Amino acid sequence: MRTFCVAVVVLSLLSVGQPAPLTCETLMKPRDTEGPDLTGRWFFLALSAEHCITTTVLDVLLRPSFVFDVTSMDAPNVYNSSIKITIDGHCFEESKMFFYKDNQMFEVDSNNTALGKASVFLYSGCPDCIVKRMDMIKALILISRRKVVTAAELAEFETQARCLGWSKPQVLRAEHASENCRSYHDIPRQEAEAIMQSIQHKVSEKATSMQEKIMKCFTDFWVFVYNTVS
Ligand SMILES: *[C@@H]1O[C@H](CO)[C@@H](O)[C@H](O)[C@H]1NC(C)=O
Ligand SMILES: *[C@@H]1O[C@H](CO)[C@@H](O)[C@H](O)[C@H]1NC(C)=O
Repeated sequence: MRTFCVAVVVLSLLSVGQPAPLTCETLMKPRDTEGPDLTGRWFFLALSAEHCITTTVLDVLLRPSFVFDVTSMDAPNVYNSSIKITIDGHCFEESKMFFYKDNQMFEVDSNNTALGKASVFLYSGCPDCIVKRMDMIKALILISRRKVVTAAELAEFETQARCLGWSKPQVLRAEHASENCRSYHDIPRQEAEAIMQSIQHKVSEKATSMQEKIMKCFTDFWVFVYNTVS
């Protein structure tokens, strides 16, 4: 009997060191800690969506990398995000204002008033990541201060996508981000055309090699639409 008791105590002491598996209930919870400071640089690392079309399109588009540089504005809770998108070695820059408070992000109108449905930050075991659920476009994204997260952190994000029944995450390659970014409007027309032609060529090659996957995704999509409307 005593041996049994000792064994139980030892086993329960051992199990203290093991993290309990996280349930979907925990993983789907909005973040309950104070919202992170958003200012500074973030890397977009993975995306899952309700439908595989979203992730397939990103893949066909040569898996662009996205870097966000966020600055706070004079108005409270209003931020400016400079978005740098690198696609096939070319980097384009755009900026966008948003409203952020209590782990919720909103689009803004021209007066910086929050608009529409919030994107909500969900629980994340990764200390310098944000898992953002965007209900407007039915997508879940993982962003981080780091260019690469650990396999365990990525696996947790995959589980979150599975909890929603959404697509397997498309992983983006933040390490391919270029620093040499220009606003699309600042690129001379001829150069812009040449860049677009080269990208189009690579995109069509990629689409050809992925034809089966794309077809399957579109078929599933139409079945999904048909089932939704009928
Ligand atoms: C937002 O940031 C971009 C890039 O730094 C800048 O060009 C733009 O003027 C800023 N917008 C506002 C309203 O400050
Ligand atoms: C912004 O504010 C101005 C002045 O109050 C108002 O006339 C205008 O309609 C507002 N714009 C929007 C998009 O709400």
